[in-house]
Amino acid sequence: MTNFSVKSSLDSPLFGKTVVVEGWLKTRRDSKGGFSFLEINDGSCLRNLQIVADKSLENYDAEVVNLFPGASLKATGELLQSSGAGQNVELRATKIKVYGFCDPTSYPLQKQRVSFEKLREVSHLRARTNTFGAVTRVRSALSFATHQFFQNKGFCYLNTPIITTSDCEGAGDAFHLTTIDLKSLIDAPNVRIKAEDDFFDLNANLTVSGQLEAETYACAVGKVYTFGPTFRAENSNTSRHLAEFWMIEPEIAFADLNDDATLAEEFVKYLVSYVRENCSEDIAFFDNRIDNSLCQRLSDTTSTDFTRVTYTEAIEILLRSNTAFEFPVDWGTDLQSEHERFLTEQEFKSAVIVTDFPKEIKPFYMRVNDDNKTVASMDVLLPNIGEIIGGSQREERMDILKKRMAELKQKEDEYWWYMDLRRFGTVPHAGFGLGFERIVQFCTGMANIRDVIPYPRTPKNAKF
Ligand code: 4AD
Ligand code: MG
Repeated sequence: MTNFSVKSSLDSPLFGKTVVVEGWLKTRRDSKGGFSFLEINDGSCLRNLQIVADKSLENYDAEVVNLFPGASLKATGELLQSSGAGQNVELRATKIKVYGFCDPTSYPLQKQRVSFEKLREVSHLRARTNTFGAVTRVRSALSFATHQFFQNKGFCYLNTPIITTSDCEGAGDAFHLTTIDLKSLIDAPNVRIKAEDDFFDLNANLTVSGQLEAETYACAVGKVYTFGPTFRAENSNTSRHLAEFWMIEPEIAFADLNDDATLAEEFVKYLVSYVRENCSEDIAFFDNRIDNSLCQRLSDTTSTDFTRVTYTEAIEILLRSNTAFEFPVDWGTDLQSEHERFLTEQEFKSAVIVTDFPKEIKPFYMRVNDDNKTVASMDVLLPNIGEIIGGSQREERMDILKKRMAELKQKEDEYWWYMDLRRFGTVPHAGFGLGFERIVQFCTGMANIRDVIPYPRTPKNAKF
C-alpha cells in the first residue's frame, strides 16, 4: 500500500492498486443506493479526488454519513476508472479512517462562496478554499522560479539584515525597534527613560530595503540577490500596499542602468513564463473565476518587448493625452498609479520601463545624470498593477555622492561604510527591487494585495 497525494492519484493513477489518500472533505453526496461520494482535497492541486464509500464499510452509518466539509480523513482502496462526468479516476474505499469531524454549524467555510473580505477574518483557514489554495501554490512556484532564475545566472543569494539603522529610501517610514515597554510609558507618562536603557541604538528599525547592504556584497562577489521580508510604516490602505511585504533585490557590479533594465525585463518574463508552464491548472482557474483577461495579459507580457521611455517623454505623453487625471501631471512630480496605468494599458499596451526621473523625487544613492536634473533610475510598470519594480544605477563617484547626501540631509557618519565602497575600488553598479506580492497579484489576477500573502499586515492589523 502506498500513500498518494490527490494530484498524483489523479495524474498518474495506478489503476487496480490499493492506495491510501488523505485530505479534507469538500463535499459529500449520498446516493439512495446506500453509498456516498466523498470529494476530498489535500492542497496538492486544485482538483478533488472522488471517493466512493458504501454501506459495507464498518463505520458507514456511525461516521461516514456524519462527515461534513472540512472533516479530515484517510481513505484506503483501489483506484478505478470512473464513469462519472468530469473525472476519470475514483477511489473505491475499503476503509475510511476519520481523523477529525467538522461541525457544519460553526465551520466558517461552508459550501456557498464566502467573500474575500470575510475570508481575511479567518486567514488561518482560508488556504482550504480553491482560490487561496491556488494562490499559495502560485506564490510558492514564483519563489522557486526566482531562485532558479538568479542561480542559473550565477548570482549569490544574500541574506541582508532585518534589523538595521539605515532608512535606505529616506522616506522616513521605517518601523522603530525598541525593547522599552511603550505601554508602561503611556500608562505612566512621567517615567524617565535613557537611551542606554534600550537594547539597540535608538535608531534601530526594521529594514525598508536590503539594497545598501546588497551593494556592499555586489562590490565583492559581483552579482547578488536578496529575497526577504521588508517593512514599511506607510499609512496607505490601498490594494497595492502592505506594511510587511517580500522584496527581491538583485545588485550587479560593473553594470549600468541599461543592463539593469534588461535584467528586470528578463526576470519578469521568466517568472510569468514559469507559472504559465508549471501552474497552468491554477492559472486557468484564475482566468475563469477571478479575471478573464489574465491568460491574455500573461501571454502578452512574455511575447512583447517592454517599452522604454524616459520620465520626461512619459510626462509629455500624459500631458498630450488630454485625459482628466485626478492628480495633475507636471514635470517634477511622481507618477501616480492612474498615470502608470494609462501608460501601460492605453498608450503602449505593454509593460513599460520609465527611466531618468527628476533627482528631487528620488533617494540619495541614485546616479546623477549629466543633465544634473535627473538620475539614472527606472520603474517597471505592468498593466493592471502599475509599479512592480523600482531600481537604479548607483552613484559611484564619491564627490557627487557626498553632495547628494548633504542635499538630502543624510549623515555621513552613519553611512561611512557605504561611502567606503566609493573610497576603495569604486565600480559602476546597479540593481532593483521587485515587490513579490505584486507579481503574485499580476500572475493570479487577485485584486487585493491582502489576498496574496498568508497573513497580511496593514495599518491596525497584525492580530494573527
Ligand atoms: O521602489 P522601491 O521603494 O525601491 C526600493 O526599495 C529600492 N531600494 C530597490 C532597489 O533598488 N534595490 O520598492 C521596490 C518595489 C516596488 O516597486 C513595489 O513593487 C514594492 O517594492 N513595494 C511594495 N509592495 C507592497 N507593499 C508596499 N508597501 C511596497 N512598497 C514597495
Ligand atoms: Mg518605487
